[in-house]
Amino acid sequence: MRVKLTQKPAGFFTAGLITVFLILSCQQAETINRIRIENSFNHDWKFHLGDVDHAQDRLFDDSNWRTLSLPHDWSIEGDFSPDHPATPGGGALPGGVGWYRKSFRIADSLKVKMIFIEFDGIYMNSDVWINEFHLGNRPNGYISFRYEITPYLRKGNLENVIAVRVDNSRQPNSRWYSGSGIYRNVRLVAVDPVHVDHWGTFVTTPDVADQSAAVEIRSTVRNGSDGDRKIVIRTELFNHAGQSVTSAASDTLVPAESAVEVTHHCVVAEPERWSVEHPNLYTARTSIEAENRVIDDYSTVFGIRTFHFDPDSGFFLNGKSLKIQGVCNHHDLGCLGTAVNRRALERQIEIMKGMGVNSIRTSHNPPAPELLDLCDRMGILVMDEMFDMWKKKKTPYDFALYWDEWHEQDLRDFILRDRNHPSVFIWSIGNEILEQWDESGTRIAGELAEIVRSLDPTRPITSGLNDPKPSNHIIRSNVLDLIGFNYHQQDFEAFPETFPDQVFIATETSSGLATRGHYDMPSDSIRRWPIRWDLPFTLGNPDNTCSAYDNCSAPWGSTQEETWKIVKKHDFLSGVYVWTGFDYLGEPTPYGWPSRSSYFGIVDLAGFPKDTYYFYKSEWTEEPVLHVFPHWNWQEGDTVDVWAYTNCDSVALSLNGINMGIQEKSNDALHLMWRLQYQPGTLKALAWKNGKVCLVKEVRTAGMPVRLILEADRNIISADGKDLSFVTVTVCDKNGVTVPNANNLIQFELTGSGTIAGLDNGLQTSHEPFRSDRRKAFNGLCLAVLQSTTQSGKITLKASAEGLTGGRVTIQAR
Ligand code: GAL
Repeated sequence: MRVKLTQKPAGFFTAGLITVFLILSCQQAETINRIRIENSFNHDWKFHLGDVDHAQDRLFDDSNWRTLSLPHDWSIEGDFSPDHPATPGGGALPGGVGWYRKSFRIADSLKVKMIFIEFDGIYMNSDVWINEFHLGNRPNGYISFRYEITPYLRKGNLENVIAVRVDNSRQPNSRWYSGSGIYRNVRLVAVDPVHVDHWGTFVTTPDVADQSAAVEIRSTVRNGSDGDRKIVIRTELFNHAGQSVTSAASDTLVPAESAVEVTHHCVVAEPERWSVEHPNLYTARTSIEAENRVIDDYSTVFGIRTFHFDPDSGFFLNGKSLKIQGVCNHHDLGCLGTAVNRRALERQIEIMKGMGVNSIRTSHNPPAPELLDLCDRMGILVMDEMFDMWKKKKTPYDFALYWDEWHEQDLRDFILRDRNHPSVFIWSIGNEILEQWDESGTRIAGELAEIVRSLDPTRPITSGLNDPKPSNHIIRSNVLDLIGFNYHQQDFEAFPETFPDQVFIATETSSGLATRGHYDMPSDSIRRWPIRWDLPFTLGNPDNTCSAYDNCSAPWGSTQEETWKIVKKHDFLSGVYVWTGFDYLGEPTPYGWPSRSSYFGIVDLAGFPKDTYYFYKSEWTEEPVLHVFPHWNWQEGDTVDVWAYTNCDSVALSLNGINMGIQEKSNDALHLMWRLQYQPGTLKALAWKNGKVCLVKEVRTAGMPVRLILEADRNIISADGKDLSFVTVTVCDKNGVTVPNANNLIQFELTGSGTIAGLDNGLQTSHEPFRSDRRKAFNGLCLAVLQSTTQSGKITLKASAEGLTGGRVTIQAR
């Protein structure tokens, strides 16, 4: 994790087919000689979907290929079909083989440096060539890696070509939707032959007290030249305001073609801790000097925090007890697919924080580095998960195929990349690994834990186990610091007897199922099918909806309430990771096609909260909450269950002014319920706290759809070609009430300096393309994601629908 503390000169790497010669002033040339250069390498790639012979050849004619910028996910651009090899479990979108090529020139003056190309992730099975030289193959689609390209660059400012073949044709190979292509960022990095190695620092805080914190910085310096070099290595620590707080320096000799590790011990007075409320960050700046010149400069963001797990009293952060209120999230960004976008990730975290989430499990794979940067900055703890399978496969073409050759290297790279993030506090070495049922589980768990601890002895190791009993072969390895329960909530309370002196964590819980805005009554009857894979889900609906009352769940799981009710009671139950925060593409349990995305999210695929969002908000935040549902458009005479989620003392409900009774909130009553005979009109709920009304909510019967209302989550975005504004379109009646079952087709028109990056409505069975200018609303709502270009100016989105008054919103890109 690096931040730029120094201004780096732009434009050393030049791209495109046009000849660009680098003319350097003396001063620039001097700068080149002095520091590390990191430039985005995302622009002006050529892309072709399908396999092509000889596309790695430098002179291959790619002029009719599509030009695009990375990150790019070609699967999300395809059409849904049950016939794609990914199956609906993988999102029912196409995979295949794709090629990327990029031409660029590098000034000869820069070739005194070592130059690397860094990929944050390519899904999957990538082969990379430069000027026809094969740099390597990397099967794992979730791992970050780099190659050195210096020896293969052409002299004399001539054009170079990077070619990347991506093979995601053999599917299924991931649970769940993976995306396809160079879906994370790419950089070119140029460093002096003597430099801080890739992911070459490790910052730990062995001793933290209020008055001072001991900070240990281990830096690996690599000398890629053929002569020994004497250097001075300096570490300077900066607080979040950018003020230098302490520094250390030492001399060392780095022998030719080798690396040395240098350790500095610093003390920070009155450290400002990293916590979920105040995520204070520090930066360690490591510089290398040789012959009185700075030749490298590398920054590591870190945090000062302590934490521990206690078998009796759970988790403590900086000495304070903290229940882990976590969600599992898969890596897709809904209609944007898996092409990583910082703002889309930030929005997901904002939405999660809004309901009181303080931790995310990166189920079941290494995340994009941007997610961890955001969690550092936004105060979210991360359970960083590496594997969904070991040597035994879960899907026909998954990582098990590559296990023997790659697991060690991939695990090492994962830990090295992520071990400085203060947000990362648990390593998960696996999810529901099949080896938990045989002896190889003990051996492999031991091997993996040894690798992890050799690189990071500061964080506990867990594994999500779906058979968490003492005879489990992974548990029997005794290498797990935390016993990770996937489900098995009925066994939680016996944990202290079953696992004396061990620490509990619920790595995966609930698996509640819901379609936003759909309600099956009676609400107190739970729809859960028997655990028999050969039996159909007979409790399902013909339109593939699931009820949003929190009365539908996977049989191995529970409703949201059932698990939380247990966990909140006991301190030794350190916390939960609910499956899942957001709906994700793939795994449309309990249905199959025509469904193609999950029902497990507390929030739907478009980012619209389902009702249980407010359940968690009422339990997980101190903010007063009153959420009353369902909508109030039923058939006259229907019996309708009205629920309220609240953290106030009681709620009084009236229908059209007639008192329907007061319900008291108790620790066991996680929701309140009234069973009413429906008549149109207005439900009004008053929440009382300490004898006073603290919140009032109305749910009104909606009339016919009359107009569209557009609201952007941000009205000013940056004109960087990446930033996003998420626009919610609501279908309303003449009084502005959301029409709860409206599914009007909405036509969008965008003008100004932006594009429509995606459209969605959260409906699991929709087969409308995400990239389009029209989409149906679902249960009253639709989402349009606007993206800036590099031009500043206004972006106006107009929405229209037949028979309705259209709406518009204008935002600014600056
Ligand atoms: C778990 C699994 C997840 C997901 C979930 C659905 O067993 O780890 O990936 O499938 O079930 O309930």
